[in-house]
Amino acid sequence: MPDAPLLHVEKLDAHYGDFQALFGVSLSVGAGQVAAVIGANGAGKSTLLNSIAGLIASRTDAIRFQGEPIGTLSAFRVVQRGIALVPEGRRLFPSLSVEENLQIGGQIRRPGPWNLKRVYEVFPVLEERRHQASMSLSGGQQQMVAIGRALMSNPALLLCDEISFGLAPIVVRDIYAHLRAIVAQGTAAVIVEQDIGQALAMADRVTCLQEGRVALEGRAGEVTRADISAAYFGV
Ligand SMILES: Nc1ncnc2c1ncn2[C@@H]1O[C@H](COP(=O)(O)OP(=O)(O)OP(=O)(O)O)[C@@H](O)[C@H]1O
Ligand SMILES: [Mg+2]
Repeated sequence: MPDAPLLHVEKLDAHYGDFQALFGVSLSVGAGQVAAVIGANGAGKSTLLNSIAGLIASRTDAIRFQGEPIGTLSAFRVVQRGIALVPEGRRLFPSLSVEENLQIGGQIRRPGPWNLKRVYEVFPVLEERRHQASMSLSGGQQQMVAIGRALMSNPALLLCDEISFGLAPIVVRDIYAHLRAIVAQGTAAVIVEQDIGQALAMADRVTCLQEGRVALEGRAGEVTRADISAAYFGV
């Protein structure tokens, strides 16, 4: 299937017990492309990323990656296939060092350019602090560890859940400049963002979720602020 997108989510539902969080969500990402997912608190953005990452079980063919159904694969198998998650809240091991946190990401190592040396080239401050406990780093530096840890598996697709959350604007710009450089080297990404300007500046396509449903989908350069406001708030 030469024309199949890298990732194709089709009519994905997700449940927490009796509560349904996603209703028929569809999303496609081409190789090397960036999709932004935006939406208000509780819209289902993290549920979507966690479903793709195999942390929430799905119907097998609701998620296809490189043409293969992966909806029922475990998180471990999903990483082996080439999808890595930078989770909401970073989820580092706080008392482990920077380097130990990065090595955890490299436990599943696919062939590719990323290794400790390469991560340190991109984020030199992490090399300076490599023996420090991750909790002693600034928020921005911790986010770099979380991104570096995901890259250590050499993913074809990076899932980024609110990587700008809680960071100062100048730090956000720095993190996104790094992410842009990473994507320019061929890694595709799905970025979940509350910072809509940041999301649109980087993405090829944008999907807006509202209460678990796709309220808007389009080329990032073509959706207007008014379209987004309407999709965000349902007004
Ligand atoms: N573990 C869980 N158990 C029960 N309900 C959950 C769980 N996680 C999320 N939900 C519910 O599912 C819905 C979607 O949540 P989700 O975390 O995916 O939203 P989100 O768009 O990522 O929000 P935020 O912007 O706050 O991160 C919400 O109504 C939330 O309360
Ligand atoms: Mg979330």
